[in-house]
Amino acid sequence: MKTIDELLRQGVEGKRVFVRADLNVPQDGTTITDDGRIRAVLPTIKALTGAGAKVVVASHLGRPKGEPDPAFTLRFAASRLGELLGRPVAFAGDTIGSEAHSAVAGLDNGQVAVLENLRFNAGETSKDDAERAEFAARLAALADVYVGDGFGAVHRKHASVYDLARLLPSYAGYLIATEVGVLKKLTDDVKRPYVVVLGGAKVSDKLGVIDHLLEKADRILIGGGMAYTFLKAKGHEVGISLLQEDQIPACLEYLARAEKKGVEFVLPVDVLVSAEFPDLKTKAPAKPTLVASTAIPADQEGLDIGPETRKLYASKLADAATVFWNGPMGVFEHPDYAEGTKAVAQALVDSPAFSVVGGGDSAAAVRILGFDEDAFGHISTGGGASLEYLEGKTLPGLAALED
Ligand code: 3PG
Repeated sequence: MKTIDELLRQGVEGKRVFVRADLNVPQDGTTITDDGRIRAVLPTIKALTGAGAKVVVASHLGRPKGEPDPAFTLRFAASRLGELLGRPVAFAGDTIGSEAHSAVAGLDNGQVAVLENLRFNAGETSKDDAERAEFAARLAALADVYVGDGFGAVHRKHASVYDLARLLPSYAGYLIATEVGVLKKLTDDVKRPYVVVLGGAKVSDKLGVIDHLLEKADRILIGGGMAYTFLKAKGHEVGISLLQEDQIPACLEYLARAEKKGVEFVLPVDVLVSAEFPDLKTKAPAKPTLVASTAIPADQEGLDIGPETRKLYASKLADAATVFWNGPMGVFEHPDYAEGTKAVAQALVDSPAFSVVGGGDSAAAVRILGFDEDAFGHISTGGGASLEYLEGKTLPGLAALED
C-alpha cells in the first residue's frame, strides 16, 4: 500500500488532492457530540495543506437515501474541521455539481474545501457497478490525486471508497496506515492472554468476528444487548430484553465450540433491568433494578451489566496482554446504565495490556464518559471496518489502495 509519505515526497504543491475521510460523527442537532473522527484525519489534511496541496475533503454522514436530506448535511462537520484546523474551510452544498466545482476552482494552494454528504447521490452506495463508476468518474473530475483516509468506511464498496481510488493515483492517508498497523497486531503474532470484550445491540453484527475470534482469543466477554440472545440460548428467560431468536442456533454453536477449544466464553452474571427504556434526551432518573442474569422478570429488559459482572470482567481483563473491545456493555448514554461500559473502560486503563477500542459506539463511549484517550493503546475510528478486518475479510477500500 503506497502511503501519503510517498505522495509528499513526489510533491503536491498546487495539486488537487481528494481526501476520502470518515466524518460520520454523532450529532445532536447542529452540535457534534464526538469529534474524534474529525480529529483523526487532521494529520493527513495538515500534511497535505502544509505541502501546498488544494485539499478536497469528502465523506458520508449517516444513511440518507441517495438524495439531499438536510438532516444529514456535512455542513456542521465541515465547520468543526475548520475550527480544528484553525482556519475556515470552504463548503460546497453539493458533491459533483456547480458548487463543488466552484469551491475546488476557488482553492489556493494549502486551502481546504469540504463537499456535501456523498450519500446525497445514489451512485455512491449503488450495488450497480456502472452507476457507481459514473459517480466516481464525476468525483474524479474534481481532483488529480486520491488519498484514502476514511478508515471507518473501508469495508464499504462505495464509489468514493473503492471506484474512485482506482481511477486516480491513490495513496493511504496516515489514519488508514495507523489503523491497519494496529489491527495487524491483533491478527499476526498476538501477545497472550488475548481477551476480547464484545457488546452492542445485535449478535448478528458480531457473528463473523466471533467465529474468527474463537480461533484466536483466549477469553471472550459478552455484554450489551447481544448478551441476552446468548442467555436465552443457555435456557434463561430474558423478559423483554433485546433478543434475536433466529441467532440462537449460532449462539449455541459458538458456546459449544468455545468449550471444545478451551476459549473462556463469559456471560453476565447480573444485570440492571427496567420495564422502560430510559429517556436519553432528558436523562430523567430511570430506577433500574438489579437481578441475576438468570432471573430477568418477564416484563423487564436488561439495560446494563450489574456490579458482580463488572468485577468479574475486570478480573478477566487484569492479566491480559492484548485486548480488543467493541461495543458498549449497556445503554451508556444514560447515567443509570453507564457503569458497565465505564467499568470495562477503567479495566483497560488500569491494565498494562495493549488495548484496542474498536467501533463507533465504544470509541464514542470512552470519550463521552470522560476517559483520557491516551490511556488506551489505540482507539479505532472504525466499527464495522475494524470488525471486518479482524474477520479476515477483504476490505474494498484497502484493496483499492493496494492495486
Ligand atoms: C461507521 O459509522 O461505522 C462508518 O462511518 C460507516 O458507516 P455505514 O455503516 O453507514 O456505512
